Formats: sequence, structure tokens, C-alpha cells
Amino acid sequence: MLSEAAKYLRSALPLRPRVAVVLGSGLGDMVDELTEATAVVFREIPGFPAATVAGHAGKFVAGRLAGTEVLFQSGRYHLYEGHSADVVAAPVRVMAELGVETLVLTNAAGGLCAKLEPGDLVLLEDHLNLTGRSPLVGHVRQGEERFPDMSAPYDPELSLLAVESAAELGIGLTSGVYAGVLGPSYETAAEVRMLGKLGADVVGMSTVTEVIAARAHGIRCLAFSVVTNKATGLGRGALSHAEVVAVGREAGVRLAKILRAVLPRLSPEPRNG
Ligand code: HPA
Repeated sequence: MLSEAAKYLRSALPLRPRVAVVLGSGLGDMVDELTEATAVVFREIPGFPAATVAGHAGKFVAGRLAGTEVLFQSGRYHLYEGHSADVVAAPVRVMAELGVETLVLTNAAGGLCAKLEPGDLVLLEDHLNLTGRSPLVGHVRQGEERFPDMSAPYDPELSLLAVESAAELGIGLTSGVYAGVLGPSYETAAEVRMLGKLGADVVGMSTVTEVIAARAHGIRCLAFSVVTNKATGLGRGALSHAEVVAVGREAGVRLAKILRAVLPRLSPEPRNG
């Protein structure tokens, strides 16, 4: 049985994309590139809370990117806004109901290793969920695994496609482990040293909750971080949100080029019937 949110989106969106993309900070403009676009803002969707952090639009836009059907999610819910993991995962769960099979996630992150500079792009190869939350706690939702395997949360085949596309475009892309934290304060210098010792390369306040929900549905994931700053103690001076947003926009242009190349290669064969 479809949720009210899925029924609403089914009737509002004429296309049935099987690839979805969560556009993080600085990438929201990509929705303007879609043709045959239809937008639905989160506040119209039954069960979706209206409030998201300032600067994040919070909408789904379905359309075609160079002929390929794509569902863009511009803006997302964050745990640090006070939303439960269930709310953070709600857009992914509704994507699963709509037939999405592949999910690309993007985010802004702090670089934890000395070699990562602001503006670098990182392909996620794994993550540490350090939020203390999971969207799978409680009753098992329809279509979800109780104990999903997490040995390959980021699909190796899709990751290879991304690496190849970036290389063809001459755009630098390294891979690394993402530490997902609750926020909203940035890390202390001691926490940054700890995260490095735990094996993380980048740190951010999103993505892990969505990936866990997606994997519980068997959705294949591919994810990218835009390094907006060196994590606390590794760079010069204090961290500002404005700086994070500005760097995210510049690097977002390069990430958008990779996405334009990768998305048509992700789309499966057309559905029969
Ligand atoms: N830490 C956590 N989240 C972030 C950072 C950071 O340094 N930069 C962008 N998002």
C-alpha cells in the first residue's frame, strides 16, 4: 500500500524516474537544467514537515537531463534541525515507493586529512555513522530489511563510473570515508583528531541517515562530498557557515559536470509496459 506522500507525488509528477539525486549545498541550481520539469515543494506533501534550514529549498523536481529521467531532491532535512531520523529519511522512503532504484547523494563536508583542500571533490567509499541515530529503529517499515547489509553501502560499480567520468572530464576526484555527525556545532580540534584516527577522511552533518534508509530498500547509492573547508585545527582561523556555502557553490560547478556525465550512464533499461 502506498503512503499518502507517495500517492500525492504519483499524481503530481508525470515522469517515473528510476534515478534520484539529492542536491546538497551549492548544487540546487542544477534543477534549472531539467526539461519537462515538474516541481513539488516538501510543504505540499502529506506528512512532510515544512521547515528546513535557511537556504535549502526542500523540493522534488522530476524532469529530463539530456534525455534521461531524473528526480532531483533540492534541499534535505537534517537531524540538527531537530528532525527525527524518520523525517530525514522520509524523502528516500518515498523515492523507494515511487520506484527509484539508484540514488546519488551530494553534501558539503570538512576535510580531515591534510591533503584535502577546500574545493576538492571526494567520492564516498564508506561511512561512519556517528549521529547516534538510525532511521531503521522501531517497527520494520514496508519493503525494508530489518538488518540490511552494509558491506558496500556505496555501490562499487557506480563508483567506478563516477571515477571514469571525472577522469574523462579532467576533474580531480579522490575517494574517502565520510564521518556523519549530528552537528550543528563544527567539530573541536580534539574531535577532528579522533575522526582522523577512526579512519574518516571527510566529516559532515547529512547523508548517512539517507544511505541507511536507501540500503534497507536495496537502492544502490553513489555519493560525493564537496570539501568546503579544512576541518577545525587543520586550517587557518575559525570556521564560518558563509565560507562553507561560498566554496560549496564554486566546487559545485565541477561536481555538476561529473553528474551530467554520470547520470545518463546510470539509467537502467526502460520499464516494460
Ligand atoms: N564539519 C561538519 N560538517 C561540515 C563541515 C565541517 O567542517 N563543513 C561542511 N559541513
